Amino acid sequence: MDLKQFVTVVPDYPKKGISFKDITTIMDNGEAYKYATDKIVEYAKEMDADIIVGPEARGFIIGCPVAYALEIGFAPVRKPGKLPRETIAVDYDLEYGVDQLTIHKDAIKPGQRVLIVDDLLATGGTVEATVKLVEKLGGVVAGCAFLIELSYLDGRKKLDGYNIRALMTY
Ligand code: PRP
Repeated sequence: MDLKQFVTVVPDYPKKGISFKDITTIMDNGEAYKYATDKIVEYAKEMDADIIVGPEARGFIIGCPVAYALEIGFAPVRKPGKLPRETIAVDYDLEYGVDQLTIHKDAIKPGQRVLIVDDLLATGGTVEATVKLVEKLGGVVAGCAFLIELSYLDGRKKLDGYNIRALMTY
């Protein structure tokens, strides 16, 4: 299946000059959503993942069905103040300023093999912070899977040495 035909490219969103890759038109097509999920499930099996980790919000949309299919757990990575119990946090750079991502301290057991899943690899800041969270908890990053990689932003350079898979590249 050519998944790209289900991505809607929206020019000048959220601001002028940005060509936004809208994946909701993958999600609202049952066959396309299943195909994308199955591809990441195959990769998770290859990587021998014990648990899936995904950053909010679109990482949940991709990661949760993968965890369900494999009958393994899913641990959410969230913006500060969203998780109710003890968390750890990592700062990451935004275009203007700094933000933080958090994860529950007990979400990952030391030695667990983690597959990080998100819809998009752009600058790589989000996944880099997620890798740090996983490793701080003693998890092993088995791989990172994305629907889309924006190769011109070179997010991969932040993930040197990690196993990366993207279903589509722009
Ligand atoms: C988007 C996307 C990735 C991230 C990729 O999330 O879903 O998580 O940006 O960008 P990066 O590689 O430059 O870090 P966003 O922060 O827009 O949040 P959302 O999923 O809640 O919309």
